Formats: sequence, C-alpha cells, structure tokens
Amino acid sequence: MEQKGRENWGSRIGFIMAAAGSAVGLGNIWRFPYLTGENGGGAFIVIYLGCIIFIGLSIMIAEFAVGRRTSLAAVGAYKSYSSRWTFAGVLGVLSAFFIMGFYPVVGGWAMAYIAKSFTGLLAAPEAVPDVFGAFIGGTAQPLIWMVIYLAINVFIVARGVAGGIEKAGKILMPMLYILLIIVAVKGITLPGAGAGIEFLFKPDFSKVTGQTFLAALGQAFFSLSLGMGCMITYGSYLNKQEKLPSNALIVTLMDTSVALLAGIAMFPALFAFGMEPSQGAGLVFVVLPQLFAQMGGIGVIFSAMFFIALFIAALTSSVSLLEVVVAYLMDQRKMERKPAVYGTAVVMAVLCILSSLSMGALSGVKLFGVGFFDFFDILTDKIFLAIGGMLLAIFTGWFVKKEDLKDELTNSGAVPFGLFEIWYNLIKYVIPVLIGIVAIMGIMAIEQTSLMIFGLLIIVVLAIFSNKL
Ligand code: TRP
Repeated sequence: MEQKGRENWGSRIGFIMAAAGSAVGLGNIWRFPYLTGENGGGAFIVIYLGCIIFIGLSIMIAEFAVGRRTSLAAVGAYKSYSSRWTFAGVLGVLSAFFIMGFYPVVGGWAMAYIAKSFTGLLAAPEAVPDVFGAFIGGTAQPLIWMVIYLAINVFIVARGVAGGIEKAGKILMPMLYILLIIVAVKGITLPGAGAGIEFLFKPDFSKVTGQTFLAALGQAFFSLSLGMGCMITYGSYLNKQEKLPSNALIVTLMDTSVALLAGIAMFPALFAFGMEPSQGAGLVFVVLPQLFAQMGGIGVIFSAMFFIALFIAALTSSVSLLEVVVAYLMDQRKMERKPAVYGTAVVMAVLCILSSLSMGALSGVKLFGVGFFDFFDILTDKIFLAIGGMLLAIFTGWFVKKEDLKDELTNSGAVPFGLFEIWYNLIKYVIPVLIGIVAIMGIMAIEQTSLMIFGLLIIVVLAIFSNKL
C-alpha cells in the first residue's frame, strides 16, 4: 500500500526524536507539575504512570500501526477504510488547528521570558506576578513574540519532514534534557529540598478521588500527543523495517522522564522556599522566576536556561501540530508543502492574535461565555481530544483487520510481539470503555454548557457529512 515517493524519516533516531519532540511540550513542563501539585503529589504520579503504561502506550502503538499501514496522514488513513470514518481524521485536523490557536501564544511567552530573565525580571521578585499579568495583558509585546514563535514553526515545517522537523528534533531534544537536569540538580541541592522529593515520590493515597484518575488519564493523553492523529501522521513517514512497539515504548519513556524531570526541577525548590504546590496555571511564569530570583546572581542563568527548555519543548510540539494540518492539505487537498504551510500559518496567526488579545484588549469579548484563549483550549482539551481518542480505539479494534494489525506490529512476522493479544484486547474492549468514561466525566465537568453543546455539535455535523469531507 506504500505510496511512491512519500517522504520518509532520514533515520530511526530522527523519527524517535521527532515523535518524542511532539510528545514533550508545555504539557510536560508546565501542565504536569501543576496537575501534580493540585492532585496531591506522589499518588497522582503513580496513577498517571498506570495510565501511561496501560492506555497511552497501547494507543500510541495503534496510531503508529494505522499510520504506517496506510502510509497516509490521519484523514487519509481513516478514509482508506471507509468514508464514514473520514470525520474522525478531520476532527483531529481541527483539534490541531485549534490547539495552534493558543499554543504559539504560550510559546511566545516562553520566548519573552528568556529575554526577561536578562532584563531585570529577577531583580524585583515581589513584582513578578504583576509583571506577568501586565505582559500577557498587553497588546504589542505578546503579539510580537507570538509571531516570532509561529514564524520559527513555519520555517521548520516548510523545510519538510527529514530536512526540517527531524533535524530540529535531533538537536533540540537532547539539549532540553541537559537543561532540565541542570535545573533539577540545582533544585535538589537547595537546603530543605527533601520535602519536595517526598511530595513527589511518597504517595499518599488518602487524597485520591475519581477526579484524580480523570486528571491523570487526561494528562497521559495530552502529553503523549494522542487522540488527534498526530502519531498516525508521524507513523506514516516511518519505513517498514522499524519495530513499532519498541519505538512507541521509547517515545513513551522519554515523554514520561521529561515530565518527571520537570517535577524534580520544580518541587524541591518550591518546598525549599516554602511556597504552595497548588499554584495552578501561574506555576511556571510566576513562581519559578521568584525561585530563580532567590538563588542570587546565578539565578539569571538558571531562569534563562529554564525558559529556553520550555521554548524548545513547546516548539517541537507545535511543529507536530502544524504538520498534521499541512499533511492533510498535501495528502487530501493535493497542495504543495510550502503553500500549505504558509496558508495554514496565516490563519493560525489570526486565531493566536485573538487568543493573545483575549488576555487584555479583547477581554470583554466572549464566545460561549469564555474568551478566545479559553475557547480554543476547552474545545480541544476537554472535548475534541477525548472523543478523538475514543474513536481511534474503536476504529482500530473493530474496523481494522486483526491480521493487518498483527502484520504491521510484527513487520510481517519478522519480529515477535509477544504482547499482541493483550494489546489487541486492551484496544478493542478495555480502552474504549475507559476513555468513554473519562470523556463523559470530562465533558460534563465543563461549566460552559453552551460551549460543550457547540463542541459536540461540530463532531456530530462532521460525522453526518463524513463522506463529503
Ligand atoms: N504533547 C504536547 C505537549 O505535551 C502537545 C501536543 C502536541 C499534542 N501534539 C499534540 C497534544 C497532539 C494532543 C495531540 O505539550
């Protein structure tokens, strides 16, 4: 089924770095520590690891298998089975598009904070929260950083799979590791850091509720870039010799280790300075600069390094999101790579301008009760991704032939995959039900009922017109 002339990853390590680069993002360095803080520490981490091993890894294997089997990106892959399924792929493209309606805004913040580290941000620790509020609520500054950030994405994706994305991943991913380790070591060696380590690694299960499972499963999904065809698309560029299960395992281990490293970089220092673990969304941009400020002169260097790491992680993720849309336009709409990249980026820039301004100038403009930033965030995070993941599991388990999956996962019998039956049953029976429960709970937890109905309506409409997409 392999298409002639399809681009391929230049090397195995290049593929792994790019896939891990997609997975490792704001989700790991910003969202994981903040969720851990809010959900009581160690117990959350244990449940999160369970979700990664039993659900995330299986779904990633499934996405790789579907992608490489068809040699097509998300939409084409679904479509090649039945046009009734096209909508599930289009839903993924739409998710990628909407995530890119706010992700570059935060990416821009990270870039701005690299610069701010050197321009006196740390000199006045007590002003840090106000500086952040004034910065993101401003007009020109965050917009300029966002545009620079998006332009870097365009530059990388326009150069194509092997030339751009792969090279960026190969250089940037190891750099991210090194930076995080340095910051983590610095944090651990602070006096009083032990409480933070204990918070992270001594589970207290008395704090666990249904909400903890929900948060952990959702985070596993988001962090591994699953549920919208991203890994289908990356798998479609993978050559037939690669072993899918072991590649998925490596990517999963890398993603998880970065999340844990980010936790280790943050909590020991946080506890050492007697701060609150449940800071929420402000954790990275408000609390960390204050921590760095308390480290003295060297803090400037650590601050800059940390935000470089955050920027790098965000960049390799948003590149994958942009690629999902571009691959759709190339495969399904027969566009050339460059016009597809430029056109998509212009529309994304418009969405990002709205998102960024919703923190300030446009804060009065509401869509279904929320600003633009939250609109794109909630629509994707809480509705599209969860449903997209469930659809993928159902599709793989019930519509793709079992022999085809076995063939793909064993490279036509050339390499053994002893856990095939377990994996297959997880995908077919267990995971759709589990994700279904999480999706329903997650969607019901949204306060903005009208936004929820709007999101579901989009999915229903897409499903009805699936064979026209
Ligand atoms: N996983 C990335 C992060 O942790 C975000 C991301 C990139 C993503 N591509 C995705 C999330 C696809 C869901 C689906 O920041």
